[in-house]
Amino acid sequence: MSQRTCLSIILAAGEGTRMKSAIPKVLHKIAGLPMVAHVVRAAETAGAGNLALVIGHGADQMREAAAKFAPKAETFVQEKRLGTAHAVLAARAAIERGHDDILVMFGDTPLIDPGALTVARLKLAEGAAVVVIGFRTDNPTGYGRLIEKGGKLIAIREEKDASAEERAITFCNGGLMAIAGKHALGLLDTVGNANAKGEYYLTDIVEIASQRGLDVVATEATFENALGINNRAELAAAEAIWQRRRRHEAMLSGVALIAPETVYFSHDTEIGADTVVEPNVWFGPGVTVEGGATIHAFSHLEGATIASGCEVGPFARLRPGADLKTKAKVGNFCEVKKAVVEKGAKVNHLTYIGDAVIGAGANIGAGTITCNYDGYSKFLTEIGENAFIGSNSSLVAPVSIGNGAYVASGSVITENVPDDALAFGRARQKTMPGKAKELRTRRAEAAKK
Ligand code: UD1
Ligand code: MG
Repeated sequence: MSQRTCLSIILAAGEGTRMKSAIPKVLHKIAGLPMVAHVVRAAETAGAGNLALVIGHGADQMREAAAKFAPKAETFVQEKRLGTAHAVLAARAAIERGHDDILVMFGDTPLIDPGALTVARLKLAEGAAVVVIGFRTDNPTGYGRLIEKGGKLIAIREEKDASAEERAITFCNGGLMAIAGKHALGLLDTVGNANAKGEYYLTDIVEIASQRGLDVVATEATFENALGINNRAELAAAEAIWQRRRRHEAMLSGVALIAPETVYFSHDTEIGADTVVEPNVWFGPGVTVEGGATIHAFSHLEGATIASGCEVGPFARLRPGADLKTKAKVGNFCEVKKAVVEKGAKVNHLTYIGDAVIGAGANIGAGTITCNYDGYSKFLTEIGENAFIGSNSSLVAPVSIGNGAYVASGSVITENVPDDALAFGRARQKTMPGKAKELRTRRAEAAKK
């Protein structure tokens, strides 16, 4: 099958008014990735080397987004929404280029299993002209029903056009279709719009192909494959299913999730075996965790790289560019952004580290702040190996602290500190014996008057 070329046409012209949003429906995200991008990924996994995206509503926004999640996709605009067959034909120029297999997918059906697409392509390879991916449900309302005769699929009837008898059928069209490239235009150009909605139905190609004596096949997949998103409640339901699948996958690959239902992954989260993830951890986009790390409860991570043996949290926030090397520690109420925390370095309590390099084995005391921003630009703080930064210090960047240097607690450091130096950046303490008592007496007298 690998020699067969494949074009995937993804229909995403819908307005999605029920999302009540200025953003086109298919750009709403699941696991941090637009739902249509999930469809693109499934198509790619199933070997669709060519992608055509049919857009309509919010075309500019769609093109801009597609440039990121599907840079090789060709976009086609469906000017008027005249039905799914009409939408597919918006990509006529791509179809005309000639492909062995054509997959038609909906941009608002993000949970498609690439395996179901692969099965459909296999059927095409065996000679089918049209393959419909169906599913069974106790509540078929709204879906096209698969009409079979003598074990053969002969038509799809849309809800509004179906007879009472046909409506009782529970085998439904999931919306995914595979069409043999050589028959595609011949079938699509024959579709009319004499139906209840006055639309050009893609589903009509089943009856047309069947009447022409071509081989039409229905395969079966789970309902999730057909789960279409029309409002934010359905979006959240799809997110929940995606997360459930991903957690399961993570655990089977050796990641320990103590309370899996409270951990949220992104589409691109990577976690190695023997990492322990405690409850209520959020993985935003771009996080990689090597094996054998511990992410303690209530941590929020995005764009971070965490090496093996690291400990993060509880209540840690790692922002983009946080790069923790082997056995580094970032503890409670610490925020790290665009900073390398070298091997074994510790940032344990109530600290902000931004635009910094922290040398191996360094210890950053509680309440340390890298003052990296002057309101206009960001500056770098460099901290040497085995340096010790006393609690509640402010390191005003650009500044560097040498290897083995020691910064006294409560310092405001504005000048570089050489290797092995001890730096104080605070007023010396002055202690006045008996002065407190004297002060109290004076105040008490004054209050009596
Ligand atoms: C469609 C199927 C139905 C199936 C169901 C599964 C048809 C005629 N019906 O019905 O058999 O059970 O999906 O969810 O295909 N679109 C366009 N341009 C158009 C019309 C639709 O881009 O002119 C896109 C929509 O944005 C959507 C997809 O095609 O992503 C499906 O359209 P929709 O109107 O949701 O079809 P359904 O009535 O759900
Ligand atoms: Mg629909």
